[in-house]
Amino acid sequence: MAKAFVALITSALCLLAFAGFANCQKDEFFVEGYVYCDTCRVLFETRVSHKVPDAEVELNCRGQDNHTVTYTVSGKADKEGKYSLKVTGDHQDEICDVTAVNSPDTDCNESVSDINKARISLTGNSGMESTKRFANPIGFRKKDSLADCKKVLDELGFVPLQN
Ligand SMILES: *[C@@H]1O[C@H](CO)[C@@H](O)[C@H](O)[C@H]1NC(C)=O
Ligand SMILES: *[C@@H]1O[C@H](CO)[C@@H](O)[C@H](O)[C@H]1NC(C)=O
Repeated sequence: MAKAFVALITSALCLLAFAGFANCQKDEFFVEGYVYCDTCRVLFETRVSHKVPDAEVELNCRGQDNHTVTYTVSGKADKEGKYSLKVTGDHQDEICDVTAVNSPDTDCNESVSDINKARISLTGNSGMESTKRFANPIGFRKKDSLADCKKVLDELGFVPLQN
């Protein structure tokens, strides 16, 4: 009975959605984000990180239960390392991630699982009015860290690594 009630409320909200009052399932999203180079090899962005132009990205959705891939779309970052992926369909009961899959920067092309992926919610039922979804930054790791990194990390209050 509670379930029927929730369904009733949901459909009422869907009707309101037409009048612009609430959200409902949407059939198109734009996933936006950028790809960066982890120039200090610390697995996060610092002030000396830079974007990775023309990086290839891929968005995948998987079923929550059996993890079968249900949706895939690929794209490429622009000259500023920013990408926008058009997704069709509402992916409410799926797990969707955008992954940095290929870097044309041969000095910064190491793929590391901690930073190469960002999870994204692709349903209109999450209370977000817009069809834009902003993904967390995703990146590649540089081969050798920059000379500036010690200073940068000191500024952030990091204890120097013992070698
Ligand atoms: C995985 O789940 C989806 C929907 O939940 C279903 O359509 C698909 O057939 C399932 N695949 C396998 C291999 O069980
Ligand atoms: C990164 O680029 C170098 C130089 O082109 C290449 O040898 C290496 O295989 C690349 N690594 C990956 C993970 O693509």
